Amino acid sequence: MSNRVNFVLRFAHSCIQKMKKILITGASQGIGYQTARLLALEGYTLICIARNEDALNRLKADFPTHVKVFSCDVTDYLRLQQIHQELEQMDFLPDVIVNNAGMGYFERIEDGPIDHWHHMVDVNIKGVMNVIHVFLPHLIRVHGLIVNVGSVASHQVFPNSAMYASTKHAVKAICDGLRLELAGKVKVTMISPGAVNTGFVDSTTDERMLAEYKPYFATAMDPAAVAEQIKHCIEAPLNTVISEIIIRPDRPVK
Ligand SMILES: NC(=O)c1ccc[n+]([C@@H]2O[C@H](COP(=O)([O-])OP(=O)(O)OC[C@H]3O[C@@H](n4cnc5c(N)ncnc54)[C@H](OP(=O)(O)O)[C@@H]3O)[C@@H](O)[C@H]2O)c1
Repeated sequence: MSNRVNFVLRFAHSCIQKMKKILITGASQGIGYQTARLLALEGYTLICIARNEDALNRLKADFPTHVKVFSCDVTDYLRLQQIHQELEQMDFLPDVIVNNAGMGYFERIEDGPIDHWHHMVDVNIKGVMNVIHVFLPHLIRVHGLIVNVGSVASHQVFPNSAMYASTKHAVKAICDGLRLELAGKVKVTMISPGAVNTGFVDSTTDERMLAEYKPYFATAMDPAAVAEQIKHCIEAPLNTVISEIIIRPDRPVK
């Protein structure tokens, strides 16, 4: 193929890519916010979901023509169904979903309050399941893409975060299962970051753990670096899917 034809094909592919509608959960801050910002700047149309309405409205104000926002707790299945219905009526269902909303507590197993464990399961596993369940039929129709944000804790268990790691291992199992059953119908990407400098660590209530982890996360990866990788996966070449990305800070593991 000549260079010219190749250039035209790549340009056409890039234009088609930009027509994709992308739903991002947890878009109010951190990795989700940086991903939304980057994609909006690139000209994508976004559907942004989180609980913090003020933060969502600020995002909407920055990108009024590119961003639709919906306040929603991903553990609320009925609210997600309602959003699906609204989007369907607007002919605005997403071609890509980025399951990014998530949270974690650093604590030892013997100290961990059961409500913390339940909360992590509700958001990190059930939240991902809810979004997939609501949007999967449409994603199958359009041969869409699911990007699930896991963690290095999807692959490895670290001290003081066993229950968090178990929820992120579940995200990996969901990705693997989707690929096994729906290959050729839906594309699946899992992105697994190591420590990122976001508000993630602030959920931890154990003062001792906070004192230990806060400086470690404050000097970790910039969330914009993870956002770049999510964009890279969304823009995978025609007829390909990036199954897995693991990205970590270039430094010793804690
Ligand atoms: N930071 C890290 O070191 C790191 C490393 C590996 C993986 N991750 C993963 O990366 C993802 C993003 O985390 P982050 O680091 O960007 O943390 P973050 O700054 O705390 O952001 C978390 C996002 O998730 C949203 N969220 C939390 N609970 C929610 C719920 N019930 N319903 C809807 N949205 C909810 C938050 O929005 P609202 O509060 O507005 O709802 C927020 O936008 C998570 O899945 C996390 O497990 C993070």
